[in-house]
Amino acid sequence: MDWRPFIVCEPEAQPPRMRGLRTPEGLGDRMRTAAFAEYQAIRAFTWAVARFDDVPEGLRADWAAQIPEEAAHYEAIKARMEALGLALDARPVSDRLSRALMASTDGRDFCIHMARSEARGRQAGLRLAAQLSQRDPQTAAVFLRIAEDEIRHVALADRYYGWRPELGVE
Ligand SMILES: [Fe+2]
Ligand SMILES: [Fe+2]
Repeated sequence: MDWRPFIVCEPEAQPPRMRGLRTPEGLGDRMRTAAFAEYQAIRAFTWAVARFDDVPEGLRADWAAQIPEEAAHYEAIKARMEALGLALDARPVSDRLSRALMASTDGRDFCIHMARSEARGRQAGLRLAAQLSQRDPQTAAVFLRIAEDEIRHVALADRYYGWRPELGVE
């Protein structure tokens, strides 16, 4: 799959370790990973809408409605990275999430796996926003804004399948 502008590492390889958050490079590593998660979400929901016809009435329309929101999340992180002089392709990222999602055997499996990953991503975004609140409130605001939308995204798994993330774990 063509993931440009990102550079994706080989399936069996680990992406490079994140550098310290106190450095611009370390912030770039976290923002790149977050941007790629949003980018994968755009592709994953687009794929799922076409792929799964075994889901409850309304879920595919809800997935489709989320695609522009994931695109807005991606654009917001990308724009903030550009303003900070951080490059999307400075280091490789992993597409493990996409490979796992596309191994879903049915719509329920996809929905819950996606919601779990969105819940985790949301927690990571909130942690990052808290760490940046003093020294980079503009970047923090980007992640807080995204976290608001992700509450609704994660809630789809509860609405359709009764699945909720375990607090503190997810
Ligand atoms: Fe998102
Ligand atoms: Fe999302």
